[in-house]
Amino acid sequence: MNVFETIRHRRSVRTFDETALRPEDAHNILEFAEKLENPFDLPITWKLLDAKKYGLSSPVIVGANTYIAGKMRRAPHAEEAFGYVFEKLVLFAENLGVGTTWIAGTMNREAFEKAMELAEDEVMPCVSPLGYPAKKMSLRESVMRKGVKADSRFDFGELFFDGSFEKPLTREGAGKLAEVLEAVRLAPSAVNKQPWRVVLCGEKSHFYEKQSRGYNTEGWDIQKIDMGIALCHFELAAQALGLRVSFETADPKISAGDGTSYIGSFEIKQ
Ligand SMILES: Cc1cc2nc3c(=O)[nH]c(=O)nc-3n(C[C@H](O)[C@H](O)[C@H](O)COP(=O)(O)O)c2cc1C
Repeated sequence: MNVFETIRHRRSVRTFDETALRPEDAHNILEFAEKLENPFDLPITWKLLDAKKYGLSSPVIVGANTYIAGKMRRAPHAEEAFGYVFEKLVLFAENLGVGTTWIAGTMNREAFEKAMELAEDEVMPCVSPLGYPAKKMSLRESVMRKGVKADSRFDFGELFFDGSFEKPLTREGAGKLAEVLEAVRLAPSAVNKQPWRVVLCGEKSHFYEKQSRGYNTEGWDIQKIDMGIALCHFELAAQALGLRVSFETADPKISAGDGTSYIGSFEIKQ
């Protein structure tokens, strides 16, 4: 599958068929994770965890025996770095036919953190089950998807802007970036809030986070993880189209509404 197909095809999988993760899939996923780099150069440690051995569970996941989790030091941009890298992993797994679900909340976190041997200054932002999707979703999964409208996303013009936040961007106006921004639009996010906003200014795409209330607590902003996912989709999609991109954090000081803050920018290089 190419990256656009993978992004379109991916969905959170919460019902698995009980089959153990094949050793070659486990090996390839862990090897891929360990090689991943992020734009903020923050190291992340990965582990595959046997659910039975460590007593791991999630009230929304059925039929998965293996989880993957990552841990890192708390640092500025830790959330975006984790989001960027974990989404690469999710898309890689998707290509292997392995189902995933980003899980930040619905898990017995204490057991996971113990299994990860989490130190005082470390954080384990999210985990994901790894396994093979069952033919039929559990009732709980179907209800959950409806609850967060998991199959829908905001319209293009609600997320992307032309030069300033005053002017919604059209697909035509986005030109060569239309497909790239569409890949951003389809990204997964916590409670499907889709906090990413992008202002297109010439060759630069400036990424902003539109914060929802209650997602930024104790110095940790889960919606910045979503922002990392959006950055990942932008970069992968641009590269798939043969565009050269560079990333920087240099606030262009575009006037944004309350609760909307600058995250970083991609520039398309000629
Ligand atoms: C950072 C993050 C945290 C999430 N945490 C949970 C979670 O704790 N439990 C859960 O069932 N889904 C969780 N999700 C999955 C989202 O609900 C899901 O991605 C969204 O509803 C869109 O659905 P889709 O992934 O099927 O496209 C999380 C997603 C992200 C990106």
